[in-house]
Amino acid sequence: MAAVAAKPNVLVACALLLLAVGCQASPFWPLEIGYYHDKCPQAEAVVKGVMEKAISQNPGNGAAMIRMLFHDCFVEGCDASVLLDPTRFSPTPEKLSPPNDPTLRGFKLIDAIKDALEAACPGVVSCADIVAFAVRDASCILSRGKVNFQMPSGRRDGTFSNASEPLKFLAPPTSNLSDLVVSFVIKGLNTEDLVVLSGAHTIGRSHCSSFVSDRLNTPSDINGGLAAFLQGQCPADATPGETARMVVENAKIPGWWEDRFEKAMVKMAGIEVKTGYQGQIRKSCRAINHY
Ligand code: HEM
Ligand SMILES: *[C@@H]1O[C@H](CO)[C@@H](O)[C@H](O)[C@H]1NC(C)=O
Ligand SMILES: *[C@@H]1O[C@H](CO)[C@@H](O)[C@H](O)[C@H]1NC(C)=O
Repeated sequence: MAAVAAKPNVLVACALLLLAVGCQASPFWPLEIGYYHDKCPQAEAVVKGVMEKAISQNPGNGAAMIRMLFHDCFVEGCDASVLLDPTRFSPTPEKLSPPNDPTLRGFKLIDAIKDALEAACPGVVSCADIVAFAVRDASCILSRGKVNFQMPSGRRDGTFSNASEPLKFLAPPTSNLSDLVVSFVIKGLNTEDLVVLSGAHTIGRSHCSSFVSDRLNTPSDINGGLAAFLQGQCPADATPGETARMVVENAKIPGWWEDRFEKAMVKMAGIEVKTGYQGQIRKSCRAINHY
């Protein structure tokens, strides 16, 4: 009797074991907070140290990282594909595409962080995670601690980068609202994420060419004082309804935007990530490893 009853249990145990082995072999592992805790305990502190110094020298370094994450994550996922330099075999990577060239900045800062991490823990911390940690620190430092969140990690670096891709996924600044919403929805982000993340534009720089023709020289709901200030800065040459309400809430209710920005940044930093056995940990953020 006992032996007969044990049989199904053994079968169940075998099935569970197979399932466990199957799960372990799954190509996708979720990102986790503290991923480097055992592999490189000082990893996040090293990134923070370099970021604090870089932002104290020029706050634009923080803005550079925050835009870098967006341009990385929306193209091939958050896999540092935007950092790859041209080679003979891949002569036109993402960084040479119009949405990135010549306005995207911060590549040397990523190199500096990578150098510090390679000195501390060679071959362990991915470039994709470096960007994500740098952005978390930049957000915290530039908001004087008001935007303060933990960044899950465990991303691996991609090996493919092509200049045609950013043009498909990064909506141009001339886009109307519906095009912007669609560009976020196809990456799993919603209208509120679009509004909240666009709040990142309260920091950093823009070239006049990015906004003069269709934002300053046409009627819009830009604050009159700000519009006049921007017109003074640039040589001569609208968000209705629901999204406008969100913008007002973000501006008026203390802590509202910060709270949503933290969550939306983590969401964006999780787009199409490569984990587990996917991708690689680059030795240099500018080039894929050849084994
Ligand atoms: C919604 C679609 C978006 C459009 C059309 C857009 C467009 C732009 C443009 C045209 C610039 C100026 C580039 C230049 O002339 O130098 C810029 C800068 C910037 N963007 Fe966006 N952006 C978008 C979303 C985002 C998101 C989601 C983030 C991050 C959360 C972000 C963060 C930044 C930052 C921080 C800068 C300043 C960069 C610097 O100082 O170097 N943007 N963006
Ligand atoms: C990059 O994309 C262009 C245009 O789609 C294509 O002609 C080229 O072969 C691609 N390069 C690589 C390395 O995939
Ligand atoms: C937004 O712009 C696209 C072209 O990029 C156009 O096809 C679409 O009709 C526009 N939508 C609205 C609501 O204006």
